[in-house]
Amino acid sequence: MEFLTELFGLNGKVAIVTGSSRGIGKEVAISLAKAGADIALIARNEEDLNEVAREIEKHGRKALSVPMDLLNINEMEDKIKKIHTHFGKIDILVNNAGINIPKPALEVTEEDWDKVLDINLKSVFFLCKTVAKYMIPNNEGKIINMSSQMAFVGYYKRAAYSSSKGGLLQLTKSLAIEWSKYNINVNSIAPTFIETPMTKPMFEDKAFLEEVLNRIPLGRLGKIEDLFGAVIYLSSSSSDMVTGHTVMVDGGWTVW
Ligand SMILES: NC(=O)c1ccc[n+]([C@@H]2O[C@H](COP(=O)([O-])OP(=O)(O)OC[C@H]3O[C@@H](n4cnc5c(N)ncnc54)[C@H](O)[C@@H]3O)[C@@H](O)[C@H]2O)c1
Repeated sequence: MEFLTELFGLNGKVAIVTGSSRGIGKEVAISLAKAGADIALIARNEEDLNEVAREIEKHGRKALSVPMDLLNINEMEDKIKKIHTHFGKIDILVNNAGINIPKPALEVTEEDWDKVLDINLKSVFFLCKTVAKYMIPNNEGKIINMSSQMAFVGYYKRAAYSSSKGGLLQLTKSLAIEWSKYNINVNSIAPTFIETPMTKPMFEDKAFLEEVLNRIPLGRLGKIEDLFGAVIYLSSSSSDMVTGHTVMVDGGWTVW
């Protein structure tokens, strides 16, 4: 057990997790706390964040709710400063918040396109930039971007989403190179379909569920727990020599 703690333990670390009011972000935040980190929670709904914070505190870690809309880039400076003042440092940033507006390409409006790209890509860049300013003086940092298998493959009704997640991979690589001199590792995770509030309505269509399952060699949808190992690995010192990389948690979808 001591050996595992040495490899993957996050005691004394401070992590920010965006989109942590529900779904993947919520459970990932709790998993990081179980591995030893204190957590700053970012999403829009303060009540939901407070509930997650209470759960984290049950595991003996500190949690801070920081309600914000990631579309408001000009609020980031103040919010991140507040987190830094509260915890004294920031070691890990998990850019998990994201949206999908699945529509056939011919029906995608300019508003749909901008919303998906603004949240999934633009806000991630500006949050990375804001947080890096606090990581650089410590000469240490871990940034993890929640991309998607849709960054690697095309799919129906995913023109904007795939573009945003593909862009996120390129952002990951660019920041990995620029910030390696500050000892900041920047990596991504690319999950397949995971059962969350985002995807639940999609799977009410049984034909869609069957089509998706046929494309996953491991024969099932992903569970949020399938992501914990990748997040903790990329947050821990075990991944110190890994940067600009994407961990596929796709059950083999992209292997075809
Ligand atoms: N669920 C999947 O199948 C799946 C697969 C691959 C990748 N992903 C990615 O994983 C991430 C989480 O997905 P999920 O399924 O848990 O989604 P979800 O819809 O259940 O949760 C998304 C979270 O992001 C937050 N968020 C959205 N817009 C925001 C904004 N403007 N400001 C602040 N917070 C905002 C929401 O409040 C929520 O907390 C997303 O980036 C998604 O693209 C999900």
